[in-house]
This record gives sequence, structure tokens and C-alpha cells, in this order.
Amino acid sequence: MTFLFNSDTRRGAVFQEIFARELPDLAFSTDPATVDPETVRYLITWTVPANLSRYRNLEVLFSIGAGVDQFQIAEVPDHVKVVRMVEDGIMRMMQEYVTLAALALHRNLPVYVDQQRHRLWQAMPQLQAPERRIGVLGLGILGRAVLEQLKPFGFPLSGWSRSQHEIEGVNCHAGDAGLEAMLAETDILVCLLPLTDETRGLLNADLFSRLPQGAALIHTGRGPQLDHQALIAALDSGHLSGAVIDVTDPEPLPADHAFWGHPRILLTPHVASVTQPHTAARAVAENIKRMRAGSDPVGLIDRRRGY
Ligand code: NAP
Ligand code: GLV
Repeated sequence: MTFLFNSDTRRGAVFQEIFARELPDLAFSTDPATVDPETVRYLITWTVPANLSRYRNLEVLFSIGAGVDQFQIAEVPDHVKVVRMVEDGIMRMMQEYVTLAALALHRNLPVYVDQQRHRLWQAMPQLQAPERRIGVLGLGILGRAVLEQLKPFGFPLSGWSRSQHEIEGVNCHAGDAGLEAMLAETDILVCLLPLTDETRGLLNADLFSRLPQGAALIHTGRGPQLDHQALIAALDSGHLSGAVIDVTDPEPLPADHAFWGHPRILLTPHVASVTQPHTAARAVAENIKRMRAGSDPVGLIDRRRGY
């Protein structure tokens, strides 16, 4: 029985060391070329290999990342469990990034970065945190972690998900009516939704128009959720005041894309959060132990919902 690690060698070495300790009875391979495909029970990868059917005894397909939208799940046999990455390192990095972005927008950093380029020394009026409302789209592992991290600053917080949640100190909304209500009370909107048929293109002109004048966007979900032209139009008209964008479609952006030089956009190359090998290897090993004990793994994908 083999665990096949199909990703970068640096993280593979860490997984190998931790698996040798945590699951000594499980063979470990980082080389699809030499492993006997019949022995592979667990595969961790970013994209599904074209020759997946050769792993006839595969039981679990793990994503090396938090998202699984890069998998063509319909092509994965029904009996194979698909599991996304849930681990502390990826969570902490997302907490850092969204906090950084929220504070940057709260303190008008895009404006001051632009002013610096123009050698302009000019203070803007500054709201206090209790006057700046932050709304998070997606109340999953990452959305909830981010909200917890933002609490001490004193921003009024709200969140939106498919099912209704209860989170202390967070005004929780669900469904279409809930989205409408949350947008109306959001000055900084954070997207932490998985990419599905329902969330593709959600960040569009209609959604922006329902945000208050001067609102801002932090996009750390997936590129195809955002209509780029709609964002540019909303920023250029002044309806939105700024955006911190970590994910785009395509990635990387073409050299002539309007986001690169836009004075109200801070852009990063899909680095908000990255799977950390030490914490991830322990989480995956723990998940295998859970399954061996008859429980579902943490992060099991519901194929019907797509996340
Ligand atoms: P998760 O635990 O699966 O949570 C997903 C959340 O989104 C849930 O609260 C879910 O609602 C909500 N949701 C899904 N579809 C919805 C819909 N149609 N309407 C309303 N709410 C909906 O996911 P996660 O671990 O927090 O990760 C979220 C996403 O972050 C990932 O899928 C990935 O795209 C992105 N990500 C980005 C980076 C980066 O570096 N930029 C890194 C890691 C992850 P319910 O609670 O009701 O199910
Ligand atoms: C990164 O975007 C991930 O899904 O882990």
C-alpha cells in the first residue's frame, strides 16, 4: 500500500520524513515513474494526472491546496474520496494576508502608494475601525479564521455562506437575501469562497453596485469569481475606492492587463496562503489514521456541491 506524493520535491521530503514516523507501515513514493500503480491507495497532487485510471486501487485523492476547483472531479471515479487541504499553516497565512489587506484598505494605502509615486504629501480623512464594516464571503475554515483574527481591531464584522452559521461577534447571513443584506452593510468585502458553478463570476457589476459608495474589495478566492472589467469600471467611477487582488484569471496576468498599473489596486501573485509542509504532512497523516479508524477525513469534498 503506497502514498504517492506528486508535487514539489522540497515539500515531498518533509512529507516523507513525517510519514515515516506517523505511518511507518505505509510505503511512500515521490516518483510516479517507478511506483507500482496497483499499490497506490493515496495520491496527493495539485492537478489530477492524465493517467489517473492506472491507479486502479486508489481510495483517496488529496489536493495539495485548499481548493479542488483545479480537479476535474467528474473524471475522478465515484468511489475515490476527494479531500482538500485543511491545515494550520495555510490558515495562519490567510489570516495574515487578509489582515494585512484589510488594514491597508482601512488606512488608505493604495492612495498613499499612488501619492508617493507622484511625490504628493497629502493626508486623507481617516475613519476609526468601529466605523469600517468588514464582510466575508465564505464562512469555511479560512473565512472563519480570518474573522477571528480581525475581531480585536474592533471592525464591525459580518459573513455570508450557503447554510446559516452562528459565530460570536459576527453578523452571519445566508442565501440570496442574506447576501443583499450583507453587501449593504459592508465597507471592505473579502472573498474567500471556493470556485463552483454558483460562485463563478459572482464579483460582478451588479454585486459591486450593491456595496456602499467607497467600499473596497479583497479577493483571495479564485480568479474566475471576479469580473475584471467590472472591477476596473467600479474603481474608475469612484464607486469602489480600492482593491487588494491575489487571484486573477488568467494567472499570471498578461503584461498589458489594466490591473498592473491601476492606482487603486494592490496586486499579489496568488501568494495569500500556501500549504506549509510540516503542518500539512501531519494533517494528512492524521486524516489517513481517521479513515483507517472508520471516520470521514477532514476536508472531504461533497461532489454535489463542488466544495
Ligand atoms: P471551505 O471550508 O470549504 O468553506 C467554503 C465556504 O464557502 C463555506 O462557508 C460555504 O458555505 C461557502 N460557500 C460555498 N459556496 C457558496 C455559495 N454558493 N453561496 C454562499 N456560500 C458558499 O473552504 P476554505 O478552506 O475556507 O477555502 C475557501 C477558498 O479559499 C478555497 O476554496 C480557495 O478557493 C481559496 N483559497 C485561496 C488561497 C490563496 O492563496 N489565494 C489559498 C487557500 C484557499 P457553507 O458553510 O454553508 O457550506
Ligand atoms: C491555494 O490557492 C490553495 O488552494 O491552497
